[in-house]
Amino acid sequence: MAKAAEHFVCQSCGAAHGKWSGRCASCGEWNTISEEATREAPPKGLGKGKGRVLDFRKLNEHGETEGPRTISGLGEFDRVCGGGLVPGSAILIGGDPGIGKSTILLQVVARLAQQGVSCAYISGEEAPAQVRMRARRLGLEGAPLDLAAATSVRDIVATMDEDEPPHVVVIDSIQTMYVDSVEAAPGTVSQVRTSAQELIRAAKRRNICLLLVGHVTKDGQIAGPRILEHMVDSVLYFEGERGHQFRILRAVKNRFGPTDEISVFEMSDGGLMEVTNPSALFLANRGSDGDITGSAVFAGLEGSRPVLVEIQALVAPSPPGNPRRTVVGWDGNRLAMVLAVLDARCGLGMAGHDIYLNVAGGLRIGEPAADLAVAAALVSSLMEVPVPQEAVIFGEISLSGEVRAVSQAELRLKEAAKLGFSRALAPPAPKQRKSPLEVTEIGRLQELVELFASLGVKAV
Ligand code: TYD
Ligand code: MG
Repeated sequence: MAKAAEHFVCQSCGAAHGKWSGRCASCGEWNTISEEATREAPPKGLGKGKGRVLDFRKLNEHGETEGPRTISGLGEFDRVCGGGLVPGSAILIGGDPGIGKSTILLQVVARLAQQGVSCAYISGEEAPAQVRMRARRLGLEGAPLDLAAATSVRDIVATMDEDEPPHVVVIDSIQTMYVDSVEAAPGTVSQVRTSAQELIRAAKRRNICLLLVGHVTKDGQIAGPRILEHMVDSVLYFEGERGHQFRILRAVKNRFGPTDEISVFEMSDGGLMEVTNPSALFLANRGSDGDITGSAVFAGLEGSRPVLVEIQALVAPSPPGNPRRTVVGWDGNRLAMVLAVLDARCGLGMAGHDIYLNVAGGLRIGEPAADLAVAAALVSSLMEVPVPQEAVIFGEISLSGEVRAVSQAELRLKEAAKLGFSRALAPPAPKQRKSPLEVTEIGRLQELVELFASLGVKAV
């Protein structure tokens, strides 16, 4: 056997280093490197021994067809999985502690069990009595779900290898699991990786759908789910803050469906409730009087679904020296770019201001199509002119100050019309468009600034 070697492993990304350092050179996280004993000495080439010749199959050969998916009936969850659970697949559900991972999985498997699908919920964190209590709170205590408290991967794999294994197995959480042949504490990179490998292998062998819970950690005490992303078929991340009642489940990887699909839930007394019309929810708390400056409604697209969100900006003069830039829900670099374009192409003096930008509702937007809405919120706050209340905004801004067309403009406009908006500020359409709203085409960022200037004059 190879001798035990000491390694310094980043608990966030899994990179191994020769010595300890305060910052991981591969992922840039601070304080995530810790010492681990591993038994795997790096193998020297292939060594001796000859491999077997592979047995190829033809691509067009008929054989395995995709089996039927298991539909939980929690529609939003099924949708984000690409239309139900695929047998033999492994899904990772990541998120901050306390965000609702255990709750949603209990809701999903209890519903499945009620429909007669055999499911097992294996918790390494809670005793069966605690899980039962939670199920009572969710009104699911009658479901014939198998519960167990276990942390030994050897025992769990033995259970999965039995004659009639369950269809769906939940492991809550992967950071509490351990393989007894690995000399490291549960939660370290080597344990998390080996445990997941063994569980996934067993699940594939027996055609079980495996749902793994992974806590996201900021302090590097335990290994984060990032190191598992490449091993599983699908990765779902919970977004949102514990202070908010909204929870957004986003598919960041999906071998069996579209990625970037999101589903929105609301945390209530009775567990996570589906939100089928997220736009209405994200806009629900918007001020009804028309003179709030710095608030723009962005007609966005998350996966295949149009979502309207409010973007809020506050531009305030800052003391000389170091202006603040605080962004929640959007990319800080993208903000810097929009500010630079506003400065250089439109002559707005943003540089000497503190700038705060917030996406309401706890959603994280990744789309460049939000550029124009962000710019509108910023200009509105700077010039103290409210954005027209009845308008939605979208468009990508280029460095030269042009506003570029974005995908699915018609879908965005349709959603806005559905929610009672009557006007849109949008990039020029390449071809004639049928729009349910009145569209004001903005070809250059300068035109947006001029629009606000004229609105300001009218208001006085
Ligand atoms: P949980 O699913 O235990 O989080 P995780 O497994 O991701 O760590 O979620 C726990 C939080 O959810 C906790 O703060 C309480 C809250 N909660 C409700 O508000 N309503 C409920 O019905 C349940 C079950 C939990
Ligand atoms: Mg939990």
